[in-house]
Amino acid sequence: MCEAWIMVMTPDNNEWRGLRDDVYRRPLATAFERLGLGPGWRCVDVGAGTGDVSIELGTIVGKEGRIYAVDVDPAARDAVAEAAAAYAQVIALTQAVEDLTLPEPVDLAFCRFLLLHVHDPLVALRSMASSVRPGGWIVAQEPVTSAGRIDGAELSMPSARHPDIGALLPRMVREIGLELVDAWSEAPAGAGAGPVKDYFEELSEVDPGEAALMLPPLVTVLARLPE
Ligand SMILES: C[S@@+](CC[C@H](N)C(=O)[O-])C[C@H]1O[C@@H](n2cnc3c(N)ncnc32)[C@H](O)[C@@H]1O
Repeated sequence: MCEAWIMVMTPDNNEWRGLRDDVYRRPLATAFERLGLGPGWRCVDVGAGTGDVSIELGTIVGKEGRIYAVDVDPAARDAVAEAAAAYAQVIALTQAVEDLTLPEPVDLAFCRFLLLHVHDPLVALRSMASSVRPGGWIVAQEPVTSAGRIDGAELSMPSARHPDIGALLPRMVREIGLELVDAWSEAPAGAGAGPVKDYFEELSEVDPGEAALMLPPLVTVLARLPE
């Protein structure tokens, strides 16, 4: 078991935006497409970090839409506010997902790489579900870290409370009374120079050289609050 998979994200590390965008862009684009996300949607991006997803959402919902970028870390609010200066509809808030309180019900509550870090992922999902309108969407994208590989060896993330939470997501959304509309998993892979290697190196502080890499698959669930 490789013990090198350690998350070192800090909101002021702008390198992250480019790296995660490169390697996990496709699952995000697929999720937005399957949702039919479009102009005018109101969304919350929970555990927004530096705001990659919030800004991506902002570009799609346009001026008529609104994005709440929520993170427990106050430094994240400043990072998102700076990054989103050009997107008037992105509003950064400092809140824990467990205490999520928005000024209006939203059409979509979204999280990516959040539930692996929280104390109780079911509590977090319930809180997200309570922020959407009847018939609204809850979308989560979370990893199965131990399914990632470096030259065939398992990856691990000792710093995460629930490193394999992605594998449980489909059951969890049903457990809290949501309708499971779609679920799938995607893993970026590569060897040698490129964004997958850069991302791995940034996370683990280990140079993988020419090793074959499969990053942790990201499980996406698309779920709906019953009308
Ligand atoms: C790994 S980053 C993910 C950032 C972003 N979602 C992305 O995919 O690029 C996890 C973020 O979740 C935030 N976070 C952790 N626990 C939280 C909680 N209980 N409530 C809200 N945010 C939380 C952290 O501060 C951090 O910014």
